[in-house]
Amino acid sequence: CSSKFLDRLCSRMISKKMRVSDALACKETGSDVRIQGWVRSVRPQKDNLFLHLNDGSSLQPLQVVASSQLNTRDLTFGCAVDITGTLEKSPNKRQNVELQAQSIKVVGECNPMDFPFKIKERHPLEYIRQFPHLRCRTNAFSSMLRIRSEATAAIQSFFRDHGYVQIHTPVITSNDCEGAGELFQVEPTGDKKDSDDPHFFSVPAYLTVSGQLHLEVMAGAFSAVYTFGPTFRAENSQSRRHLAEFYMVEAEIAFTESLDDLMKVMEDLFKAATEHVFSNCTEDVELFHKHVAPGHREQVDPMLNRKFNVISYTEAIDILKSSSQNFTFSPEWGRDLQTEHEKFLVKHCGNTPVFVVNYPYELKPFYARDNQDHPRHTAAAVDLLVPGVGELCGGSLREERLQLLTQRLSQAGLEDTYAWYLQLREFGSVPHGGFGMGFERYLQCILGLNNIKDAIPFARFSHSCQL
Ligand code: 4AD
Repeated sequence: CSSKFLDRLCSRMISKKMRVSDALACKETGSDVRIQGWVRSVRPQKDNLFLHLNDGSSLQPLQVVASSQLNTRDLTFGCAVDITGTLEKSPNKRQNVELQAQSIKVVGECNPMDFPFKIKERHPLEYIRQFPHLRCRTNAFSSMLRIRSEATAAIQSFFRDHGYVQIHTPVITSNDCEGAGELFQVEPTGDKKDSDDPHFFSVPAYLTVSGQLHLEVMAGAFSAVYTFGPTFRAENSQSRRHLAEFYMVEAEIAFTESLDDLMKVMEDLFKAATEHVFSNCTEDVELFHKHVAPGHREQVDPMLNRKFNVISYTEAIDILKSSSQNFTFSPEWGRDLQTEHEKFLVKHCGNTPVFVVNYPYELKPFYARDNQDHPRHTAAAVDLLVPGVGELCGGSLREERLQLLTQRLSQAGLEDTYAWYLQLREFGSVPHGGFGMGFERYLQCILGLNNIKDAIPFARFSHSCQL
């Protein structure tokens, strides 16, 4: 008995550690390997026990065959194991290889009666959302997280390949870029407060709502820059497309004079990232397109093959007004487009993405470039609307003319606050513009996720900050 124990110990020490994904792709059988992970299913048969093992590296599990001579008593669905054995060709057509176990050590037990997920059950996303600390152990959520990781890499590559410099814009800032008042203020807790100064930073400070203004600083030196990080909005909304903390991809481009240039970057980014994800996460994406949102792939493919539509805000209002649809908010020139309007416009344009350009000047923040048109005064701003989600990107040309910007800021009483921003227009100012894309909304759009809370590892929204 003790020599058997020593044999197993030695084999565990000398076997090569391998991830499940590498084992599944392994062409050479006969090698001794050590694989650690979590048990996804246990099927006892006459002489053997069959396990499915997963370590997060792929959706497909590795089949493990354990002879009845091994101690398999504590092996249950959900437990953590450390297995050594030999990779062999599998007689099962659904996989190339399987692991013939020589030793199995249960590292962490799991009582399947208490575990919230049941073997072989496909739990709805709404159900698994109740377990933010455990939902990454389910197939659907782990697939989403692998896709999210790959999409992040695809977006980074897109910008790197197109000559952009990545800028880490600050999370704590003293400005309200969007001017919408959806700010979370940042102050230390009780005993860290300085009695002489009401503010830790001597000025009110907030979690950023957008890195745009900091990117504008950098575009004035690097020409093309981007940032990709967490963004915060104190929106009192529990809608299926709003979060209090979300990730935004933002780009800023100097020497750009037309919205067409910005729209091209948005469209190319969307298409390049999606094509990358679809070809590098085939199985994970299929899980969504077959089981979570059946038929969704047929809706996304045309988005990748056709040019996105472009309409002006004024045309959009005309389309909405002349439709027979009974909207809750009646469409009027000068009012913001509501979700119901966005949905209608996307459908009207053949259920493919549509850019809406040139919004009423008064609807857009101080930085948007004045089109100086009349009588319908507009700004050079653009939103990208996509099926299933509505607004995915928002962007604009920025007001680079010192006099016009000064005028607008002073009308809003913000001339002093944004003195530094005005200075950017004094020293080598250039026409420039940029946009932001909500990363979770992007994932919703390509995967067919109904609720944005299923597109982020840990969702934060009003009245909820679990973990
Ligand atoms: O349209 P927004 O507010 O644009 C800006 O913040 C610009 N300063 C960006 C820029 O030009 N650099 O936000 C951009 C995108 C939206 O289109 C939407 O996809 C996403 O960010 N977004 C949200 N996503 C989830 N939850 C929220 N509460 C969001 N608010 C905006």
